[in-house]
Amino acid sequence: MMTLMMTASPLMGEEGERVMNILAIETSCDETAAAVVTSGRRIVSSVVLSQDEVHAPYGGVVPELASRQHLRSIGYIVNESLERASMKTADIDAFAVTQGPGLIGSLLVGLSFAKGLAYYHRKPLLGIDHLEAHIESAFLENPAIPFPAIALLVSGGHTSLFHLKKRLHFRVLGRTRDDAAGEAMDKIAKFLGLGYPGGPVIERLAAGGDPERFAFALPRMKDHSLDFSFSGLKTAALRWIGETKMSGKHGHLADFLASFEAAVVRALLENVTGAIERHRPVSLILCGGVARNKRLREGFGALARTSGLSAFIPSPTLCTDNAAMVAALAAERMQRAGKPRRWLDLDAYPRFNPATGGPGKGRVRAPSTRPSDGRAGG
Ligand code: KG4
Ligand code: ZN
Repeated sequence: MMTLMMTASPLMGEEGERVMNILAIETSCDETAAAVVTSGRRIVSSVVLSQDEVHAPYGGVVPELASRQHLRSIGYIVNESLERASMKTADIDAFAVTQGPGLIGSLLVGLSFAKGLAYYHRKPLLGIDHLEAHIESAFLENPAIPFPAIALLVSGGHTSLFHLKKRLHFRVLGRTRDDAAGEAMDKIAKFLGLGYPGGPVIERLAAGGDPERFAFALPRMKDHSLDFSFSGLKTAALRWIGETKMSGKHGHLADFLASFEAAVVRALLENVTGAIERHRPVSLILCGGVARNKRLREGFGALARTSGLSAFIPSPTLCTDNAAMVAALAAERMQRAGKPRRWLDLDAYPRFNPATGGPGKGRVRAPSTRPSDGRAGG
């Protein structure tokens, strides 16, 4: 069985108020997700079908299996999001879909399905950048985040720092030069035979472990950039595992994983500290799948407090991939720019956003070293 997560709250438009209903689809990686969001902020339904069990035997996402699974699930998931919202497609004012970055085959399943819906119902379709949508997840729960803000996006495909001058205005301050943080965790878990995805397993098994037992050295960027690197940490961890023959039964496992998890958190927060010093924000945003991690959430909150800043961290279900964040960003776009006139020619993009200058734009780094998928998506 695959995990199906659903949240729903009753549809409540103010008396007589014209509410805008947006249905969004997200299929950039290994979650098939659909959501209905009303008035830009109210999540009326959000359905996420995880493919974890499809990919678990391989210890990472297998692109071909992912797109086939999306194809099987998409109709059901979109229907489910409408049913949970007590709506029909005719009640939807606009559709939205993740365009990229992500696995191209998976993206195309969502994009084609969304185009079909929009074309048939003669409604607009908005193409949404996955990384921008992750950042938007923070605004869903806190629309009045004060600017300027620094956003740390940490997921299985991405680890990036952004400067936000105002709403929807991003600049990349740093990104990973090799592995993403979640990717490093997934690989260590795979190597230890702990399953996929690795982040949640590591968090569970690290609980109660001594985070200072193993001294991981953190990477230093010679050019003082705010880029990240996790391959050194990963290699050190793999070497230790090899030397100590650590296994699931080994008594040191909790200490080892706690130390590794703490080192990942330290590496992330070190660059946030650098960004605070250089850019003097008033708010800090943490988002992406790894933002579910308690040690990271607490460390991020503590860093904000000692720096006199406000921290905004979405609820855990909004951190991992979901379609509510996609719908919310589409609503914000529509409110600012109105309905898109051209959308039938929307295309998926695997690596960065060539059109909008969103967070995906900027320096394009070496391809992900993730063994089984090669995605660059967030
Ligand atoms: O944003 P996301 O759902 O997917 C994309 O990569 O776009 O993030 C998935 C990543 C995986 O690497 C997973 O191991 C990690 O988030 N993750 C966690 C936790 N939950 C998910 N990492 C650490 N602690 C967690 N609790
Ligand atoms: Zn993501």
